[in-house]
Amino acid sequence: MLRGLSGRPRSLSPWLFYDDEGSRLFEAITELPEYYVTRAEREILTSHADEIIAGAGSGDLTIYELGAGSGSKTGLLLEAAIRRQGSITYRALDVSKSALEEAKQRLEAAITGLTVEPIVSDYTDGLSNVAGQLNHRKSGERRMFLYIGSSIGNFELPHALQILRDVRAQLIPGDSLLLGADLVKDRQILLRAYDDAAGVTAAFNKNVLTRINRELGSNFNLQLFRHRAKWNEELSRIEMHLESLITQIVFIPALDLQVRLARAETIHTENSHKFTDQQVESLLHRAGFSVAKQWKDDLGWFGEYLAVAV
Ligand code: TRP
Repeated sequence: MLRGLSGRPRSLSPWLFYDDEGSRLFEAITELPEYYVTRAEREILTSHADEIIAGAGSGDLTIYELGAGSGSKTGLLLEAAIRRQGSITYRALDVSKSALEEAKQRLEAAITGLTVEPIVSDYTDGLSNVAGQLNHRKSGERRMFLYIGSSIGNFELPHALQILRDVRAQLIPGDSLLLGADLVKDRQILLRAYDDAAGVTAAFNKNVLTRINRELGSNFNLQLFRHRAKWNEELSRIEMHLESLITQIVFIPALDLQVRLARAETIHTENSHKFTDQQVESLLHRAGFSVAKQWKDDLGWFGEYLAVAV
């Protein structure tokens, strides 16, 4: 945070969004009329869950998910896995303990044959912190990792590639990764998805300042910042920023840092890259996967890729 807020352009790490309130606001985003991403992906998973699970290879399947959140789309795949083999263990990784606890409660109550094992962790710095839990492979275990919701798009390309390689390191040939990626489309549609009329995305973005105020004692005044979504054509990504409405100085006691923000200066809080099929396939190949199958929603807005470890 010290580096991000003292550097130019100013920035904050996206994982900071996901305190309890941030996770709750993010769930609200997924239900917004403008935010097509979750609906498009749910459409794909609803239509193709059995086919996806059939592509997972033979053996006793265990499903792992990075950034599981509430796990609401995942239920479709878990049910398909239970249709195939009677029961399933679902190992859900997320930074939000509360989101994982709710997911466990809700999913185990709703789906017979399901065991949820929550793993509270931040996967963005590699999986070595949870390697103890992941390295032990049950005999006959067949792994499928889920990395859906286009979270891959929230990282710069080299970091995205590193995350896919970290996943690959937990797999043996024949295991699989289901990757969801949001695709390039009309820019107005993209901008609306990240700046909704009800202001939920704005609240989500600003919540990071509330969190820093609470946890580090700072004095960000939320009234003096505005949520901004921008399309960066060159890098093919939506950027979220918090724009300072006036020249101001914010003090963060825990970092002993004074941040002087000019009027209209922004703090860059998130990227959401939009891909072509080719880009996704290239990332997967470079990470040690081959693409076995891919699906799109009816509008062709979102892609789901079943990648097999080679
Ligand atoms: N990865 C998804 C996306 O980029 C979800 C997401 C992450 C998101 N951060 C967000 C959605 C901020 C809206 C705002 O769309």
